[in-house]
Amino acid sequence: MPKITVIGAGNVGATTAQRLAEKELGDVVLVDIVEDMPQGKALDLMESGPVYGYDTLVTGSNGYEATAGSDVVVITSGIPRKPGMSRDDLLKTNAGIVQSVTSQAAKFSPNAVLIIVSNPLDAMTYVAHKVSGFPANRVLGMAGVLDSARFRTFLALELGVSVEDVHATVLGGHGDTMVPVLACSTVAGIPVGQLIPKERLEKIVQRTRDGGAEIVKLLKTGSAYYAPSASAVEMVESILKDKKRILPSAVLAGGEYGIKGLFVGLPAVLGSKGVERIVEMQLTPEERAALEKSAAAVKELCSTVDTLMGW
Ligand code: NAI
Ligand code: 2OP
Repeated sequence: MPKITVIGAGNVGATTAQRLAEKELGDVVLVDIVEDMPQGKALDLMESGPVYGYDTLVTGSNGYEATAGSDVVVITSGIPRKPGMSRDDLLKTNAGIVQSVTSQAAKFSPNAVLIIVSNPLDAMTYVAHKVSGFPANRVLGMAGVLDSARFRTFLALELGVSVEDVHATVLGGHGDTMVPVLACSTVAGIPVGQLIPKERLEKIVQRTRDGGAEIVKLLKTGSAYYAPSASAVEMVESILKDKKRILPSAVLAGGEYGIKGLFVGLPAVLGSKGVERIVEMQLTPEERAALEKSAAAVKELCSTVDTLMGW
């Protein structure tokens, strides 16, 4: 049975653990610094098994011994946004948290694939890569699946069709500069540009960019977690089942799309080795420029991280 550790048993972490348990993707270990809380949530999840119909072993812990030998580690620990905060405002606090949990997790699971969720996402994925010393194929961040899911939702609502027939790709950093790629955003194979007038499409793209903030504004005390946890689990599933799904993920670019040495959202084949390949596609000159702008924003954040961490 594969073993999956979820660090941070808050909204995203606990919901991720729930979805993993319900899908029986592996034994789940839930870790948090709050005493007894991950143990309580793990027990509650185990006790759902008889009713929901799963046999997943879920363990809660405040330490890392229980996580030893994990195949996948999902890092969700950190503070979420409050209204008025940008993801980047979280930088300092979360860099310290991600540094500390990554070094522990990597020590106990040296062969794991790390999936980072904590924000600001691209910079935190950079931190996890640097601290773990893992090869780049085993460190990736979750954002593109979520941003694409939001875009798909809004497109499906606009057209009154099933979300299952709507495909969309959002690349770039997980922030205001994210890049929805219209050429590969299709409804039953038909490019969305043929179905939705330009002005409406622009509004939908903007709503996608603001998707995280829209939820923060409504929740008032935290940020989204149902769609984020579903997105992280889709990535875990592709890796553990070696499905080789092509999912937009924050990955270390090695020259693809003209970007090198930066973690940024690009389409990637996810399989048992983690990131198996970055897929290149043709972008319009505008999309290419937007992706470069997004990469520049991520680069700036990573420089701030370097200064903060004394790297
Ligand atoms: P939350 O506040 O509900 O949970 C965070 C948990 O992390 C808390 O239980 C806290 O005790 C724990 N924690 C803090 N320091 C820790 C440490 N050193 N070791 C272990 N656990 C620790 O927050 P939520 O809503 O679960 O969000 C978590 C993070 O994920 C935030 O940074 C948020 O911005 C980010 N996020 C990223 C998304 C993405 O698309 N990449 C989507 C949604 C959230
Ligand atoms: C989101 O997009 C907060 O990054 C998180 O919902």
